[in-house]
Amino acid sequence: MKQFQTSKAIQRLPDQFFATMIDKLNLYKNRGYDTLNLGQGNPDQPTPSHIVQSLQEAAENPDFHKYPPFHGYEFLKEAVAEFYKREYDVDIDPETEVAIMPGSKTGLVELSQCFLDPGDVALVPDPGYPDYWSGIEMVGAEMKSMPLREENGFLPDYSEIDKESWEKAKLMFLNYPNNPTGAMAGEDFFVETIQEAEKNDVCVVHDFAYGAIGFDGNKPLSFMQFEGAKNVGVEVYTMSKTYNMAGWRVAFAVGNPSVIHALEVIQDHYFCSIFGGLQKASATALLSSQQCVTDLAETYEKRRDLLVHGLEEAGYHVAPCQGSFFTWLEVPEGYTSQGFADDLLESTGLFVAPGIGFGTHGEGYVRIGLNNSEETLRDAVKRFKAFKQK
Ligand SMILES: Cc1ncc(COP(=O)(O)O)c(C=O)c1O
Repeated sequence: MKQFQTSKAIQRLPDQFFATMIDKLNLYKNRGYDTLNLGQGNPDQPTPSHIVQSLQEAAENPDFHKYPPFHGYEFLKEAVAEFYKREYDVDIDPETEVAIMPGSKTGLVELSQCFLDPGDVALVPDPGYPDYWSGIEMVGAEMKSMPLREENGFLPDYSEIDKESWEKAKLMFLNYPNNPTGAMAGEDFFVETIQEAEKNDVCVVHDFAYGAIGFDGNKPLSFMQFEGAKNVGVEVYTMSKTYNMAGWRVAFAVGNPSVIHALEVIQDHYFCSIFGGLQKASATALLSSQQCVTDLAETYEKRRDLLVHGLEEAGYHVAPCQGSFFTWLEVPEGYTSQGFADDLLESTGLFVAPGIGFGTHGEGYVRIGLNNSEETLRDAVKRFKAFKQK
């Protein structure tokens, strides 16, 4: 069959490291191994029933069977504004400061397409969520990694960024609570970020995917809570993790009106917004009781306690896990992250995500998800213990 040549933009896309890993997991499964998947970031619980019910009702509304407004329904943008006021005491103008997106993965790629040209620089956390790289590579821009080290609480040290990179930088991606390290950022960090962004004329994109999942009584801070944040960037929020709606594909960005406008312009060309019923159910999620969110965070915290305690008892070092649903385990001496993940899979059936897949500075660690039941995590701890003793 004729093999058509893809565009240079497509050729530049980075390999999907984790797709290869999943192939490996499936190979072991097919060979009859008793595998446990602790490597992926898919919420394991169902969407709360009142949200599902809202979609069921909305599906019958013929208004939603038509094309939705290009930029999304006003009722959802108003719900987003109310959510930010209630949760973070932040004023958001629903007309000019909210963009609705079909999942934040899409929005994060679009932001690079909106603001980067070849030769521009995007500052990315390393380790970090790999989809930041996709949009940057697609437009032929350069990536400058900001190392996240355990001794610095997995926060970037802005003094390490050289003058030339600051000059060329147009975008900076940040993500707290952090995937993959489980770290949270404090007030000082966000204040410093705004100062640097102002000084260097960089647009900050704060990916707040795990905004609802903070532990030990600490509610994750929204970037938008800080004075001047709206002037220098946006925050991207997904329904996927807060409401277990990963399959529904609904997210939004809030903040700087020029960035919001650019997102809406690019989306005018890609999409005609998302199904009205999904928008209705998302508004229901944002405006109803948040007890389901409190319960979810508690569930993840219990799982974290169980897993981290078990792993530490077995002699592993786990970085402090303050939020998100990931723990970041240091690999035993003598191992690379890939080597450890491979050996662990081979001898115990446990599948974890090697840190190298999240960037050079992810080397030395593996990511373990808390999106498994306590029973599964107990089983995992037993296998980790056995591995250590072998
Ligand atoms: C840090 C981070 N950002 C964004 C996303 C994408 O979420 P979604 O596309 O479901 O909104 C994920 C999903 O795993 C993530 O971990």
